[in-house]
Amino acid sequence: MKSKEICCIGAGYVGGPTMSVIANNCPNYNITVVDSNESRISEWNGPVNDLPIYEPGLKEIIAKVRGKNLVFSNEVENSIKKADVIFIAVNTPTKTHGEGKGMAADLTNIEKCAKLIAESSSSGKIIVEKSTAPVGTGKKIKSVLNKENSKVKFQIVSNPEFLAEGTAINDLMNPDRVLIGGEQSEEGHKAVNTIADIYRQWLPENKIILTNLWSSELSKLASNAFLAQRISSINSLSALCEKTGAKIDEVSKSVGMDSRIGSKFLQPSVGFGGSCFKKDILNLVYLSRYYGLQEIAEYWESVLKINDYQKSRFYDKIQNTLSKTENPTVSIFGWAFKKNTNDSRESASIEITRKLLNNNFTVKVYDPMVKEKTIIKDLQDVLNNKLNKLTVCSSAEKALKDSHAICILTEWDEFKAMNFKNLSSLMKEPILFLDGRNIISDNKLNRTFKKFMSIDK
Ligand code: NAD
Ligand code: UGA
Repeated sequence: MKSKEICCIGAGYVGGPTMSVIANNCPNYNITVVDSNESRISEWNGPVNDLPIYEPGLKEIIAKVRGKNLVFSNEVENSIKKADVIFIAVNTPTKTHGEGKGMAADLTNIEKCAKLIAESSSSGKIIVEKSTAPVGTGKKIKSVLNKENSKVKFQIVSNPEFLAEGTAINDLMNPDRVLIGGEQSEEGHKAVNTIADIYRQWLPENKIILTNLWSSELSKLASNAFLAQRISSINSLSALCEKTGAKIDEVSKSVGMDSRIGSKFLQPSVGFGGSCFKKDILNLVYLSRYYGLQEIAEYWESVLKINDYQKSRFYDKIQNTLSKTENPTVSIFGWAFKKNTNDSRESASIEITRKLLNNNFTVKVYDPMVKEKTIIKDLQDVLNNKLNKLTVCSSAEKALKDSHAICILTEWDEFKAMNFKNLSSLMKEPILFLDGRNIISDNKLNRTFKKFMSIDK
């Protein structure tokens, strides 16, 4: 088979791992991953133990394919020029200004890519929308391309990504499905098939779903909304459990054993984090309002309200218990939004710590993977004189020394294995234990601990 040239714009949590797995499974394809962030590209080209993204299994694949059929480069225009297929995997954050501020997806990065592709192309190309974007984005990309370059034929394909961080490599190697949406024309079908051919190198046909452009775009938003909705549903019940005699673990297990409901994504928590659930639901809410569907907008908005409520409840427990303590000190265990990633975007730890610092608590943070500079950057809107009350610690023991409360906010395996009965001797009375991930079994605690999301008798 003739080698195919692929370019991926965006070397982030999606672009990096996705292209590594494609390169590993498709030796006949040459892949160049480009990014406007030069230091990110040099990190991708640096030692495999210090890649910009921590993802189990990633460094082994990079070591195998980098410099062979996978290249990380700053030469954006050149890479676009020689590519047959271009994946757009840039970030699509919530808008911070203009119409739709705080709700709609900001498509500036995608539009910039479309413009650059149009300017740099002299031969036909398939443009793949890998970023998560609202319904209609594919059409928008096409209109930018056609306006800026009428000489070249472009086909737009939507191929949303469903990987979850921390399990990205396995999710890419063994996905539940790969979704590819295209235009309903002969050329559109051909383009969809060209993209499906990439995945056919390692996946069976029944895992590949072919749809139209709009179904593909909406299915991605819908999938994230459904997942987040399950977490908010179980979290809403955790509040009820704390008022009654019910235990949330028992409720979650009983509900999840109904095969029609299923057990996944029913783990109660301090609230979901990550860069996507909130932004994608806001996007869905905005889209519903745009089409005059007020009730639908409110329905999905409530998923976010419960998530905020859960984080507030968690903070209130600390505040209420330690309100009379002198120089109250809190240990935050975990900064990443989930285990096995160094990503802290929208992590519950940020909001809880921000509130603690703004209310004069002393905070000691420990995370096995997130760097100190990231933690400080995440708190940049906290006043400088409050930041004096923050210490980022290099071990769990250092973080616990002389503190009054432990808050487990990431489900790192390291925390699950800890003996908190022994560790509590490093702490000061009153001792508060808040397990925001519900990972520590009761028999590992003694009676001086209070537990979030279970009855405290
Ligand atoms: P990210 O911020 O980690 O990476 C995006 C990269 O794109 C950045 O390195 C940025 O410098 C680069 N970029 C932005 N504009 C550019 C431009 N004009 N030219 C060149 N480079 C540019 O983002 P991510 O987490 O990889 O997410 C990317 C998209 O994938 C988003 O739409 C997100 O919703 C979606 N998604 C993310 C995940 C996830 O787990 N992170 C999973 C599925 C889908
Ligand atoms: C999520 C989806 O799972 C992916 O399919 C999707 O591709 C991705 O968003 C995206 O579009 O960005 P991710 O955010 O990486 O992936 O991680 P999840 O495993 O979904 O966890 C998200 C948050 O929910 C974490 O804070 C996690 O701790 C929390 N969570 C998850 C719970 O509180 N309870 C659960 O039962 C499951």
